[in-house]
Amino acid sequence: MSNKDIKLVQLPSPNFVPERDKDKPLMLEVSHLGIDFGGLTAVNEFNIGISPTEIAGLIGPNGAGKTTVFNLLTKVYEPTRGTILLDGKDTHGMNTIQVNQAGIARTFQNIRLFDKLTVEDNVKIGLHNSIKYHMPTGVFRLPKYWKEEKKAHERAMELLSIFDMQDMAGYIAGSLPYGAQRRLEIVRALATGPKLLLLDEPAAGMNPSETSELMENIEKIRDEFHVAILLIEHDMNLVMGVCESIAVLNFGEIIAKGTPSDIQNNPKVIEAYLGSGTAGENADAGKEGTLTGSSDASKPAGSPDAKIGGRKEGA
Ligand SMILES: Nc1ncnc2c1ncn2[C@@H]1O[C@H](COP(=O)(O)OP(=O)(O)O)[C@@H](O)[C@H]1O
Ligand SMILES: [Mg+2]
Repeated sequence: MSNKDIKLVQLPSPNFVPERDKDKPLMLEVSHLGIDFGGLTAVNEFNIGISPTEIAGLIGPNGAGKTTVFNLLTKVYEPTRGTILLDGKDTHGMNTIQVNQAGIARTFQNIRLFDKLTVEDNVKIGLHNSIKYHMPTGVFRLPKYWKEEKKAHERAMELLSIFDMQDMAGYIAGSLPYGAQRRLEIVRALATGPKLLLLDEPAAGMNPSETSELMENIEKIRDEFHVAILLIEHDMNLVMGVCESIAVLNFGEIIAKGTPSDIQNNPKVIEAYLGSGTAGENADAGKEGTLTGSSDASKPAGSPDAKIGGRKEGA
């Protein structure tokens, strides 16, 4: 089904989800989430509901607070206020590792791999959650160790095959081309067996053919791994092509939510991306934004055919 046919329905809670999930409990339900850094409110009144098979997008100008939202969801930062329910369970009091074990995995805006280890070992580190042997078994290389080791190898290969990366298993992660490192990070996140996958700018630095391959793979990952996905991305072709619902963040607050077409036509969103004309105030937004999909920069913001176009940037 094309995401052009998507219809969002309202739940008894104030959340909208893809219609096929309307009777399923939310995978992620975030209410009134916020964080202050000293005097700076980086995120405020952040509310979102993501259903179990949903691919959701989080977009907004540079510095809007998108990565901070991921840092809150994964407990890199303790929220100043608000609640985060994962599969109905309150993550309050959990640390980063516990949240990962509870089912949230992420990738980072700036890639974080063990770049001196092999590709396979990077994936195995992700698998750590599910490998079951105790310290002595590993230290003394007891039979159970080899059995688990064989299982881990097979599972790592299976996971790498999502991106056709089995042949790279023995390569040193840091020696891979940039796009392959980004894919490896996704594989490693999936190895932890998440229910919710957070991707922070997965297409950053990828070339157009890698990006379109990634788009197909995001849907494949959702279907094969039965995960909900929340992704931050500046590549509007990817966001509009793959996300079923989109939330737009500006200055730490959600200014719009809806389907890709709701978002593309929302004047507030267009203004946030284009700047309101007060260059100083919205300088960041101006840099981040792009004028029109048809690269016609002469159209004023808010003109009926002004669209958030396919920006490409490797930041
Ligand atoms: N640890 C921190 N201490 C102080 N300010 C922070 C911290 N982390 C993020 N911020 C601020 O929060 C705002 C949002 O940043 P970020 O979430 O990285 O934006 P985005 O990912 O949307 O580009 C920025 O103003 C940033 O400087
Ligand atoms: Mg960011």
